[in-house]
Amino acid sequence: MKALVTGTTSGIGKKIAEKLSEKGWELILTGRNEDVLAEMKNRLGNTEIIAADLSKRKDVYGVYEFCKDRDIDMLVNNAGFGVFGKFVDTDLDSELEMIDVNITAVHILMKLFLRDFRKRNRGIILNVASVAGFMHGPLMSGYYASKNYVLRLSMAIHEELRREKSNVSITVFCPGPVDTQFNSRAGVNFSAKPITADYAAEYALKKAFAGNLLAVPGLTAKVCAFGQRFAPYKLLSMVAYHIQHAKKSSDVNRRC
Ligand SMILES: NC(=O)c1ccc[n+]([C@@H]2O[C@H](COP(=O)([O-])OP(=O)(O)OC[C@H]3O[C@@H](n4cnc5c(N)ncnc54)[C@H](OP(=O)(O)O)[C@@H]3O)[C@@H](O)[C@H]2O)c1
Repeated sequence: MKALVTGTTSGIGKKIAEKLSEKGWELILTGRNEDVLAEMKNRLGNTEIIAADLSKRKDVYGVYEFCKDRDIDMLVNNAGFGVFGKFVDTDLDSELEMIDVNITAVHILMKLFLRDFRKRNRGIILNVASVAGFMHGPLMSGYYASKNYVLRLSMAIHEELRREKSNVSITVFCPGPVDTQFNSRAGVNFSAKPITADYAAEYALKKAFAGNLLAVPGLTAKVCAFGQRFAPYKLLSMVAYHIQHAKKSSDVNRRC
């Protein structure tokens, strides 16, 4: 069995890759950090790597071209990042790059691999969204909106596949805070206790292998994901603002 995992140079994606390798999967790993990719290839074995900047469309297609004749069984769309700050102040180029990575690359890879998976009537898609996908997020508005896109797209495609009685499965992983480089890259602090990347990866894979659509780890994330349906949007806006505001560090409006 062979998986393509994006964003494997740190955090959740790195752990997902390590756990798949432990289970005997062959891997194709992507990210921009070539040193980390090379280290993982040497350490894990049975691994190919392709450095790619998923904010660039030609790199996204390049990843697919690299994989398309390699009989991929599982696509893990994990790469992503957030931009923090008031919408009016955040850097437009950073946000457009975020939209390219969090939305456009996910959309392209999912469509191209899904076409291949449908021909074979097998395959697993695991999209890493966020509990943010269930909400709107003042002070991180574009990031929350990007994860809403991934969540809703995944849910819609899941229904299309179900009606076709397809053996292709799609799982959307929606964690709350996870202890990775995500926050330092977005220039924020945790406002709630994070789960570990190890637990996040284990949970996401368990749900993906079970063919579940939604994977929401932990009680707090479940309360946010499912409880928001019953709260008025003005209340949600205020609560979300306070949660985001509590994350603020001294160096806001940045990513790297
Ligand atoms: N941590 C959290 O609290 C949390 C909560 C909910 C959802 N998530 C989601 O989980 C996913 C993984 O994030 P993480 O928490 O593991 O953060 P992380 O440690 O910062 O890892 C992000 C990964 O994405 C890759 N990436 C970022 N920009 C990229 C680009 N332009 N091209 C290719 N790869 C790129 C990075 O690789 P390179 O730098 O090598 O390119 C890295 O491997 C993201 O989609 C994030 O939105 C995280």
